[in-house]
Amino acid sequence: MTPHNNAKLGDYAETVLLPGDPLRAKWVAETFFENPRQVNSVRNCLGYTGTFNGKPVSVQATGMGQPSLSIYVNELIDTYGVKNLIRIGTCGGLNKRAKVRDVILAMSASNEGTMYHELFGKFTFAPTADFSLLRKAADLADQKDMTWHAGGIVSSDSFYQPLGLAAYKPLTDHDILAVEMEAAALYTIAAQKGCKALAICTISDCLITGDEIDADQRQTSLTDMAKLSLELAAS
Ligand code: ADE
Repeated sequence: MTPHNNAKLGDYAETVLLPGDPLRAKWVAETFFENPRQVNSVRNCLGYTGTFNGKPVSVQATGMGQPSLSIYVNELIDTYGVKNLIRIGTCGGLNKRAKVRDVILAMSASNEGTMYHELFGKFTFAPTADFSLLRKAADLADQKDMTWHAGGIVSSDSFYQPLGLAAYKPLTDHDILAVEMEAAALYTIAAQKGCKALAICTISDCLITGDEIDADQRQTSLTDMAKLSLELAAS
């Protein structure tokens, strides 16, 4: 149906979770969905639809980085009519108050990437989460006693920053909490197309302390984040 997606019209639910990793999409569907079925297999960028607590929900991998995510998100919205997009992923901590395993609810996503720069002429656009999704996610995280922070993150084009933490100084001077690689494109496309978006990211590594999540913690954190985002999707 699109160059990157062989799902049929009607195969996606209105709400889609968006991990970067195709195997994480498969894991979410097979672990948590009732009646999961695979809807996309192109390039092994896997997509699934099922129900959670009886409500239709999909999960679609986006690959890594804003250019890759933008392909899947544009097509999900334009071809498949998706309305609510919830990124689930990991991020690198840039702020002392946010520790490894904490969850970041990204209110805004500053952008290192240049994909959308020329759109705004002399202006700087502030890619922003949907408030209703953000508020519900915060309430759910409180009910689950999760440690979470709402604030600004930055979407970088480089996982391997030659300058490390120093590269982000102008942003950390402005209280940016964490770095990942996709949310700014998600928020920008959602704003263009009248859709709702939120990025929920677990801190997998801290650029200040060098702490990293271990394999067991990673699995527990992913499970917590998946449950939170699925309850949000089904709310
Ligand atoms: N995702 C998780 N950790 C990251 C980091 N340090 N930089 C960019 N994206 C990330």
